[in-house]
Amino acid sequence: MKILMVCLGNICRSPLAHGVMENMAKEQGLNWEIDSAGTGGWHVGEQPDTRSIAVAKKYGLDISNQVCRKFNTRDFEIFDQILVMDFNNLEDVRSLAKSDSHYQKVSLFLKEGIVPDPYYNDDQFDEVYQMIEKRCRKIIEEFKASSI
Ligand code: 4NP
Repeated sequence: MKILMVCLGNICRSPLAHGVMENMAKEQGLNWEIDSAGTGGWHVGEQPDTRSIAVAKKYGLDISNQVCRKFNTRDFEIFDQILVMDFNNLEDVRSLAKSDSHYQKVSLFLKEGIVPDPYYNDDQFDEVYQMIEKRCRKIIEEFKASSI
């Protein structure tokens, strides 16, 4: 399984989803390839936001080696699933899809809601981490249940 996590800047939410999912899949013995990207290019080449690095570290995860990149239409070919953090990301990524199969790969990470953008709210990083952790656990559980 190859999963791409997408948010706006690729410095706050999607690097957390990338790191958490990668670590959890590995722990569960799943050979998954996880990556992340942003729909915007302002922070390309940068490390994740220091607040995302800090909250990940608090929960025992090092995401400091990640490098921000922008979503690219080649990602539609590479990844099986493209999981986005909010409705703007959903619209932005889907608008780049040139086929139905590519369009179908894009869905909300949380399925029923959004991961709020914590960029302007320092206090929200912990909550965002918790949401992401919970959903990654569920994705793995659902995958394991469906492969039995
Ligand atoms: P992210 O948060 O989409 O979770 O990475 C943001 C990061 C940067 C900006 C906006 C959101 N920005 O405007 O630079």
